[in-house]
Amino acid sequence: MTSVAISATGLFTPEQSISNAELVTAFNAYAAKFNADNASAIEAGVVTALQPSSVEFIEKASGIKARYVLDKAGVLDPDIMCPRLPERPNDQISVMAEIGVKAAQDALARAGRTARDVDAVLCAASNMQRAYPAMAIEIQEALGIEGFAFDMNVACSSATFGIQTAADFIRAGHARSVLVVNPEICSGHLNFRDRDSHFIFGDVATAVLVERADIAPAGSWMILGTKLKTVFSNNIRNNFGFLNRTAPEGVGATDKLFVQEGRKVFKEVVPMVADMILGQMAELNLKAGDLRRLWLHQANANMNRLISQRVLGREATEDDSPTVLDTYANTSSAGSIIAFHLNNGDLSAGDRGLICSFGAGYSAGCVFVSKAS
Ligand code: COA
Repeated sequence: MTSVAISATGLFTPEQSISNAELVTAFNAYAAKFNADNASAIEAGVVTALQPSSVEFIEKASGIKARYVLDKAGVLDPDIMCPRLPERPNDQISVMAEIGVKAAQDALARAGRTARDVDAVLCAASNMQRAYPAMAIEIQEALGIEGFAFDMNVACSSATFGIQTAADFIRAGHARSVLVVNPEICSGHLNFRDRDSHFIFGDVATAVLVERADIAPAGSWMILGTKLKTVFSNNIRNNFGFLNRTAPEGVGATDKLFVQEGRKVFKEVVPMVADMILGQMAELNLKAGDLRRLWLHQANANMNRLISQRVLGREATEDDSPTVLDTYANTSSAGSIIAFHLNNGDLSAGDRGLICSFGAGYSAGCVFVSKAS
């Protein structure tokens, strides 16, 4: 079978960042105003008063200290509390394609590739900016790539599912070089008025260049094996869609944004992912000691600690399982790719590791890799 490698990854990080303190100040101003505006209904027991958020809770419960966003001012304005990203005319590149292109250019430059070398583009992300034309085709056009492109959405697992899809195209002989792009504008679907989750997400874009191993540059990462899994769950859900624009509650209702049962997600996803990793390790004949590093999905530091503990059989160090949650927060499918991108340069030829994602669906994806010489 044709061997496949990750030739390079790319990263686009927005310029603006919001600290927990800034986010909590904005939420608490909104909550105080809501409580004042609804004082008599709260007094009468018809409306529930909003509780303040806290920096200490956020950091302890999630490990998140800050998040990058495309529009800080809108998110922090207690009267707005969402990013203001003006609609662009059709003859301008859309914002999601724009950040995807930046990450893709970084990946291409690192691999020493030009657009002519690439046969296909997959835009794999949790949300697409529009229904059609596909974001991937706009990215393909902006980069000047021939061949084909399409969008795919597997929520937080979009990137790993994209990597396996790219690898399968290459193994089947349909492409030699496939660009998987993950523009995640998570601030657009986060409810910044919801105390339970307002701190979770950030914005970013990543890109992964997947290629036939025999053309991959020196220092690429051989894909040893991949495994995907999905199990239906309503515990992470967003009802936004093209059929509810005329519904009475319509766009803007809170169920048309991200909602989750965070505790249930935590309890159900940790064993599902740990079992999946261990099962795939057995299939690939890999022992815990064979894995030099785990680049796990970045949703919650405590989840990562438990999963890596089950996989390694011991407490993982930051070197075993690096986290980028403190600065990036949860960036959906891009999280494990950021962790990989920022933390693989120190590894040596022959070192093996695991890129692993998990999230809504539920969905989970494993990509086992080995550094080539
Ligand atoms: N500030 C202060 N207190 C808060 C708060 C906030 N922003 N949000 C919730 N709390 C309070 C709750 O009201 C609750 O108080 P109580 O004990 O008096 O009822 C307490 O903190 C615990 O809340 P809970 O929601 O049970 O916290 P948690 O420890 O489960 O942490 C998550 C919440 C979301 C961080 C955690 O469940 C998680 O990360 N789950 C997995 C999420 C995930 O991976 N999702 C995938 C997204 S793609």
